[in-house]
Amino acid sequence: MLYRQGSLLQLLAIVPFISFSRGSILPTSNDLRDEYDFIVVGGGTAGNVVANRLSEDPSISVLVIEAGGSNADILASQVPNMWTRLLGSMYDWNYTSIPQAGLDGRSISLARGRLLGGTSSLNTMLYTRGTSDDYDSIAELVGDPRWSWDRLQPYIRKNELWSPPSSNRPTEGEFDPAVHGRDGLLEVSLPSDPQPIDDRVLQTSRENSEFPFNLDLNSGHHLGVGWLQSTITSTGRRASSATSYLGPGVINRPNLDILLDAQVTRLLLSNGTDDVTFDAVQFVAGTSAAQSVKAVREIILSAGSIGTPNILLHSGIGDAGDLARVGIQSVHQLPSVGRNFTDHILGGLTWFANSTDTFETVGRNASLQAMLLEEWRTNGTGFFSGSGIDHLGYVRLADNASIFDNFADPAGPNTGHIELIISNGDLFSGPTPENFMVIEVMLTKPLSRGSLSLNSSNPFDDPIIDPAYLAHEFDRFALREGVRSAQRFLSSPAWEGYILGRTGAFATVDVQDDDQLDGFLRENFISGLHFVGTASMSPKGASWGVTDPDLKVKGLNGLRVVDASVIPLIPAAHTQVPVYIVAERAADIIKEDWKLV
Ligand SMILES: Cc1cc2nc3c(=O)[nH]c(=O)nc-3n(C[C@H](O)[C@H](O)[C@H](O)COP(=O)(O)OP(=O)(O)OC[C@H]3O[C@@H](n4cnc5c(N)ncnc54)[C@H](O)[C@@H]3O)c2cc1C
Ligand SMILES: *[C@@H]1O[C@H](CO)[C@@H](O)[C@H](O)[C@H]1NC(C)=O
Ligand SMILES: *[C@@H]1O[C@H](CO)[C@@H](O)[C@H](O)[C@H]1NC(C)=O
Ligand SMILES: *[C@@H]1O[C@H](CO)[C@@H](O)[C@H](O)[C@H]1NC(C)=O
Ligand SMILES: *[C@@H]1O[C@H](CO)[C@@H](O)[C@H](O)[C@H]1NC(C)=O
Ligand SMILES: *[C@@H]1O[C@H](CO)[C@@H](O)[C@H](O)[C@H]1NC(C)=O
Ligand SMILES: *[C@@H]1O[C@H](CO)[C@@H](O)[C@H](O)[C@H]1NC(C)=O
Ligand SMILES: *[C@@H]1O[C@H](CO)[C@@H](O)[C@H](O)[C@H]1NC(C)=O
Ligand SMILES: *[C@@H]1O[C@H](CO)[C@@H](O)[C@H](O)[C@H]1NC(C)=O
Repeated sequence: MLYRQGSLLQLLAIVPFISFSRGSILPTSNDLRDEYDFIVVGGGTAGNVVANRLSEDPSISVLVIEAGGSNADILASQVPNMWTRLLGSMYDWNYTSIPQAGLDGRSISLARGRLLGGTSSLNTMLYTRGTSDDYDSIAELVGDPRWSWDRLQPYIRKNELWSPPSSNRPTEGEFDPAVHGRDGLLEVSLPSDPQPIDDRVLQTSRENSEFPFNLDLNSGHHLGVGWLQSTITSTGRRASSATSYLGPGVINRPNLDILLDAQVTRLLLSNGTDDVTFDAVQFVAGTSAAQSVKAVREIILSAGSIGTPNILLHSGIGDAGDLARVGIQSVHQLPSVGRNFTDHILGGLTWFANSTDTFETVGRNASLQAMLLEEWRTNGTGFFSGSGIDHLGYVRLADNASIFDNFADPAGPNTGHIELIISNGDLFSGPTPENFMVIEVMLTKPLSRGSLSLNSSNPFDDPIIDPAYLAHEFDRFALREGVRSAQRFLSSPAWEGYILGRTGAFATVDVQDDDQLDGFLRENFISGLHFVGTASMSPKGASWGVTDPDLKVKGLNGLRVVDASVIPLIPAAHTQVPVYIVAERAADIIKEDWKLV
């Protein structure tokens, strides 16, 4: 099954076809209607799901307002293994944390997508749902069983379109067909082309009982080592919320409008007599003055874990004292806005590899890159068709680990405290003469909690973001064990003669020495880029939290939040799939509330 991209490109080059295919994208803000039934703020991962599902009902009108531009025609967003080039580009909001006490005062880059599709248009495409424990603990925390793993299964299926890899190679034994959906919109696939280290990874799973083979990491039980699934299409291209949920047939719906390059500055209270109904969105498009557009039924905030609390705070929804300090009049006292910022933290461990067949060989050879890109263009296969990662591992701390004497286990019994991301070289490698083997160690269930707050009343200023990495003792303990676990992984006989020794900052660390390991973590670990919790859902009537379990903002009318910020406890997963699941379920709740079809 070959994919002839050349001919498709020729087709796309016909200009009238392009303008036709972008029917719902408004040329300018002058083309807006005066009002819409629903306004979705942020055309990102979650926002496009909501826009798609609500506009299935032809009787209602939906507007998406997105700060960034179109995702179409951005090569680095289409080619899976070019995602690193989008970091720090014009498609990245370029947020940074304030100096982190737990990381020797370093400020950490916090990338977020600023284009249609949001962060799903620039992420690493790993498809990880998290475990049954992750969702069951959220359902319990918010007191609503409909957020449990079992009850969310229909929404997982609505999202997923399981697809063959672009090479169409046989994949039996690499996944469990029973746990995948074939009726959804978002393509998910196994790696197109296996890599030279794959056999050693699988051999390790047979040699060391710490890392048993797991047929499918997305079954709800992810412990062990298994094949990575990714949001990559059967033609070897990135699948994002823009390519899938706004695909052909949706983007042209007459009841769906999309306004790009328009940054929402605040939400406006209704002109009615109550002071709890929000019904308009203020935005700035290009160099124009601020404009507003009215939502007849609801405003759905889907601006992400940084954008959403930022907009809420600029709208006067947050902690009144904090708002007063930057000169913003409080409209609605909701102190949890921006609090409980939770992120994963990760770092790479690097070894020299006795191989000339790793990413570095590509990284240092421009003509090889050109050949591989040609392969991707012609066949959708090869180096550029994947994220660069073929396997993940999830491991738990020992049940008798001393840390549990002092802290309750944040992970359920099916859930790893550590994720190992196994790769055939350095994903960020430049033209280096050496060849590497890399394992990234990620803390999956951190107990550190940070915050987001305003620095000024100007909605175009960045907020103050403090993830509080490694503030909690549990996090340092678990990461030390994670580094040791990665070391044990590569000590298995499978790697004899392949691993030549540690390199980089990791080379000189005595991994048995807690203090040295802590220093290594402080100096080298970075964001997992999985922020959640800044507009958390909580039980109805709770004294904390920002939304009820139906995602309506507490105490207000006309306003819901649907994105990563409502997730109150971080799942042991890269967060795009949890966000897609939240968005699919949210769309159903909204449709039920308004009796839409
Ligand atoms: C580099 C990177 C790699 C990642 N890799 C993975 C991975 O491999 N697998 C995985 O599962 N997860 C990954 N993630 C995380 C995952 O992609 C995110 O958790 C998820 O996409 C967030 O979805 P969201 O809908 O909450 O926000 P977003 O997708 O970020 O959407 C928010 C949207 O709102 C827009 N917006 C914000 N403010 C405004 C405003 N004021 N006005 C108008 N529009 C606004 C933004 O431009 C954006 O389009 C990665 C993240 C990054 C940054
Ligand atoms: C992010 O930073 C880069 C490099 O400074 C810049 O080119 C880009 O425009 C910035 N992104 C945005 C959205 O401003
Ligand atoms: C609210 O009323 C003011 C003053 O009459 C008007 O300028 C504004 O457009 C109204 N806002 C909305 C959202 O209707
Ligand atoms: C943070 O979340 C926890 C639940 O995980 C909750 O008990 C606490 O009140 C929240 N804090 C704030 C400030 O919202
Ligand atoms: C670069 O790759 C090409 C194509 O595989 C190969 O012919 C060439 O020898 C490589 N160059 C170097 C310096 O390895
Ligand atoms: C595409 O695949 C075909 C069939 O396997 C192969 O013959 C051809 O060389 C490939 N093209 C490129 C550019 O790799
Ligand atoms: C945990 O149990 C194992 C054996 O089951 C033992 O070897 C180890 O010392 C114990 N660790 C602690 C911290 O008690
Ligand atoms: C907050 O504003 C001050 C003054 O403009 C500036 O120096 C500082 O860098 C800002 N902080 C952040 C986190 O943006
Ligand atoms: C490197 O691998 C080759 C086989 O591919 C082996 O002969 C050699 O001994 C290895 N080198 C080291 C230092 O282990």
